[in-house]
Amino acid sequence: MSGVLLPTGFAFESLRRSHPRAAFDCGQSDVNDWLRTKAFQNQEKRLSATKVLLDREGGIAGFYTLATGQVDFGDLPTELARKLPRRALPVAILAWLGVSMAHQGQKLGDLLLAQALRDCHAAGQTFAFVAVILDCIDDRAKAFYQRWDFAELPGHPFRLYLSSQTLAAMMMPR
Ligand SMILES: CC(C)(COP(=O)(O)OP(=O)(O)OC[C@H]1O[C@@H](n2cnc3c(N)ncnc32)[C@H](O)[C@@H]1OP(=O)(O)O)[C@@H](O)C(=O)NCCC(=O)NCCS
Repeated sequence: MSGVLLPTGFAFESLRRSHPRAAFDCGQSDVNDWLRTKAFQNQEKRLSATKVLLDREGGIAGFYTLATGQVDFGDLPTELARKLPRRALPVAILAWLGVSMAHQGQKLGDLLLAQALRDCHAAGQTFAFVAVILDCIDDRAKAFYQRWDFAELPGHPFRLYLSSQTLAAMMMPR
């Protein structure tokens, strides 16, 4: 599947030990801490996969982390759960996403989210899941994701979902 259009000289890579993680600063300490100290170790353990967007100098302009998980049938909204079995259901998790402060406001957040959703859609052709789920760290992050058709899970105001049907529709060529 083709990727999103990147600014000249920018490139996506799977996170490696040699990437300059310690210098990454998106202004949110828990997001920074994840990338600086945990993302690579979790990737080595096959718990999650992180892709970094490198800028022209090889710095980390942004990143996202994907993982797999489950949600309980009862946590899903009725319109999504209606035709699904009453058990734990597989989901893709957009666990973390951040853009370095030096690069914020240049649409890289949208670009990272677009690529993360493309990755989810591509993976879903092999390992099926019913929705992409994410946890927002605050109201601002929530507003960012809600611009993209993510909706609240009932009873979990900071947990958003995008159904696989909506994801597939988003990936249709226009
Ligand atoms: C949220 C974040 C990823 C946005 O990245 P960005 O590259 O600055 O965003 P973009 O330039 O792609 O902006 C795209 C749109 O989102 C809006 N936007 C940007 N940051 C936003 C925020 N924090 N809240 C709400 N909307 C936001 C922009 O106004 C823009 O909207 P527009 O197209 O209508 O003008 C970035 O601010 C960030 O890394 N924040 C700290 C970490 C974080 O909160 N991560 C998300 C939870 S894990």
